[in-house]
Amino acid sequence: MIHIEGLWAGYGGLDILRGVELHVEQGSINCIVGPNGAGKSTVLMTISGLLRPRRGSIVIDGVDLAGKSPAAILHAGVVQVPQRQGLFAKLTVRQNVLMGAYIHRRRRKHLEQRYDRLAERFPLLSERPDLPAGALSGGQRRTVEFARALMLDPKVMLLDEPTLGLDPLSLAVIRDSVHAIHSDGVTVLMVEQNVRFGLALADRATVMSAGEVALAGTAEEIRDKPNLMDVFFGAAPRARPAAPDRP
Ligand SMILES: Nc1ncnc2c1ncn2[C@@H]1O[C@H](COP(=O)(O)OP(=O)(O)OP(=O)(O)O)[C@@H](O)[C@H]1O
Ligand SMILES: [Mg+2]
Repeated sequence: MIHIEGLWAGYGGLDILRGVELHVEQGSINCIVGPNGAGKSTVLMTISGLLRPRRGSIVIDGVDLAGKSPAAILHAGVVQVPQRQGLFAKLTVRQNVLMGAYIHRRRRKHLEQRYDRLAERFPLLSERPDLPAGALSGGQRRTVEFARALMLDPKVMLLDEPTLGLDPLSLAVIRDSVHAIHSDGVTVLMVEQNVRFGLALADRATVMSAGEVALAGTAEEIRDKPNLMDVFFGAAPRARPAAPDRP
């Protein structure tokens, strides 16, 4: 489905991604984990075309989309839910979700059918359509963001840190939502700071460190790697040496 090879990308004169390789199979849930600044969000931004890669290929359904515009990538069926997004607090759940398909706003009937179909997957959409988004819990807000992205009927959803800033109770809401996306036939590529949560949810996982892929495999294999925590806290390239003891 997505095959990334030799991907280099960065900001200004600085290379952040240095030869990233990533393979995502159709219909799977994939999770990228790694310490802060590892380049996880940069991978998603590069796939969705918000950042132009310097080198490498991003083949989606057999077509190399590296360097294409965000509109072209959206058209190819890839939708991103960024790390910090937000809803219109004064608009209702329904209005926020419908915003996702603003480009199809003239096709009212189509939009309503799509909303109703999503409401079968996400009960919040049928139970509280008129609730202002400002009154939702963190987990519910995320659900509305996901549903909004699904209005465009994507093949692939890129989720950046879906659990960021949420309380433990909301984790179950996110888990259910990701399962709902997945059971709709959408391939999921997510980035997650909560390693335990991400690896429990995913089929396959990639561990990134300092702009490179440190490990990749099934989520189970990655969970069982004894040196996983080294990537985060031990032999990480960014770790500072301890200050010498004063005499
Ligand atoms: N717009 C930008 N301009 C310049 N540098 C950036 C920009 N965005 C990110 N960076 C730098 O690129 C590196 C990788 O950032 P990125 O956001 O991809 O990491 P991340 O793995 O998603 O981290 P986090 O867990 O904190 O979200 C970091 O050193 C960051 O400071
Ligand atoms: Mg990030």
